[in-house]
Amino acid sequence: MYHRVALVASGLSSLEGLRVLDLACGRGGGLAFLAEHFGIRQATGVDLCPRQISFANDTYKDFSKCPISFLIGDIETTKPLLSSQEPFDMVLCIESWHTLPFPGKALRQISEGIISANGRVIIADGFLSERLA
Ligand SMILES: C[S@@+](CC[C@H](N)C(=O)[O-])C[C@H]1O[C@@H](n2cnc3c(N)ncnc32)[C@H](O)[C@@H]1O
Repeated sequence: MYHRVALVASGLSSLEGLRVLDLACGRGGGLAFLAEHFGIRQATGVDLCPRQISFANDTYKDFSKCPISFLIGDIETTKPLLSSQEPFDMVLCIESWHTLPFPGKALRQISEGIISANGRVIIADGFLSERLA
């Protein structure tokens, strides 16, 4: 599902070489799947829940396809957490945006230095069908 969202919603034919940030990454499986099979260059996941992040860090500690890291953080205040990182080529937020009390605040954070100038922000919530296209 992650790869369909990333490819169909972005209109890209490939994710090769992209730096991808997954906001509300949960246990990290979706992001790791992209990193394993779609040639992304660097993967960072952020989630509010320390247990999910701890699971992701344990599960993917020996991951070798590309640098992958998982950080505890709130989407709405994530900018300081990522300030030392280069802007990302793609920011994903899947099945999570609807939970944000202040979505405008989150968008501002993403647009102010988290996403690169020609990057793509993909927010996907409320799927009605397993098929995206
Ligand atoms: C339904 S899960 C989706 C996980 C993953 N994106 C996926 O599709 O498999 C929702 C996730 O959003 C996270 N979450 C909710 N509010 C958040 C926030 N403000 N900042 C970061 N993560 C948040 C929860 O901890 C949970 O892991």
